[in-house]
Amino acid sequence: MQGELKIEQSTQLKPKPNTANLSFGVYMTDHMFTMDYDKGQGWHDAKIVPYGPIPMDPAAKVFHYGQTIFEGMKAYVGPDGDIRLFRPEKNFERFNRSCRRMSIPEIDEAFVLNALKELIKLDRSWVPSEPGTSLYIRPFAIATENHLGANPSLNYKMMIILSPVAAYYAEGLNPVRIYVETRDVRAVTGGVGEAKTAGNYAASMQAQENAYAAGYSQVLWLDGVQRKYVEEVGSMNVFFRIGDRIVTPSLSGSILNGITRDSAIHMLRDFGFEVEERPITIDELWQHAEDGSLIEAFGTGTAAVVSPIGEIGWEDKTVKIGAGETGECTRRLYDELTSLQRGDSEDRFGWTQTVCRAETAQS
Ligand code: COI
Repeated sequence: MQGELKIEQSTQLKPKPNTANLSFGVYMTDHMFTMDYDKGQGWHDAKIVPYGPIPMDPAAKVFHYGQTIFEGMKAYVGPDGDIRLFRPEKNFERFNRSCRRMSIPEIDEAFVLNALKELIKLDRSWVPSEPGTSLYIRPFAIATENHLGANPSLNYKMMIILSPVAAYYAEGLNPVRIYVETRDVRAVTGGVGEAKTAGNYAASMQAQENAYAAGYSQVLWLDGVQRKYVEEVGSMNVFFRIGDRIVTPSLSGSILNGITRDSAIHMLRDFGFEVEERPITIDELWQHAEDGSLIEAFGTGTAAVVSPIGEIGWEDKTVKIGAGETGECTRRLYDELTSLQRGDSEDRFGWTQTVCRAETAQS
């Protein structure tokens, strides 16, 4: 297998961004993790090296057939100065589920989680501490065999890169307007919607552009077969507060099995809400929105955390949710989730893992 993790430290550290003005995914830290796979040899040459470009052959399969998967996770600095990861084992479990679906060889989850912790320790001065910021972690795997046959690659590269980030959506905790997409679909059951693979995101971009052009921030996706069941919003799972119940679409096979979704379900139940994971049609949702029983709506995701929805557009109609304001349940979920992730409050679910003490030396 991988053998020992080698570490080559950078001799040319980069200037750090001003963490008061971070956006999402712009800056990368000084180091990255890489590991290679060759059929017959397995994963090997696991190392942490200075961050930089990787040489790729134009015939590499990832460019032509999209055989690639990724994850998104975060590390946070707490008030005690400790850096913590949030449910990282869940991300590596899902990484391997995505690998299986995309015919990519699985990784040793414990080995890679340990390598990630070493990477964070090395780049610990990059973990931002301002409220609303975190270190975004992007593990990914790509097919690197140089061959134009459309069959599984014989060679792969797995990498982890790190990026200090602030809110994913410019609106932050301000409610966004979303548009129900009735033409394009993101994924279908039996397809790859449940895998975190690039094509799902590429497939969503045209509808996203059209929604922007019409003055909306995100798209509300419907199922790909009957075009009547609500699936996801943007690149997040979605929740609706209908009276005192919270409804979220059940995992149909075409929806991403979100780790923030799962955490939100646990926390909302802990707040005392009844949470229903079930199919919900756009007609039912619209009816609740029109009669005022749809009090709150929000999306959940690692990058976006908890993102409130204030208005829905569907064909030529629009309806406001909760007078277009961020609802109390949405705000409480955001506050309690982020405080738990940062280590500001007791980790009553046992979800965080301490990595090391921070060395915050931002300019
Ligand atoms: C995440 O939430 O981590 C994702 O991977 C979504 C991506 C569009 C940033």
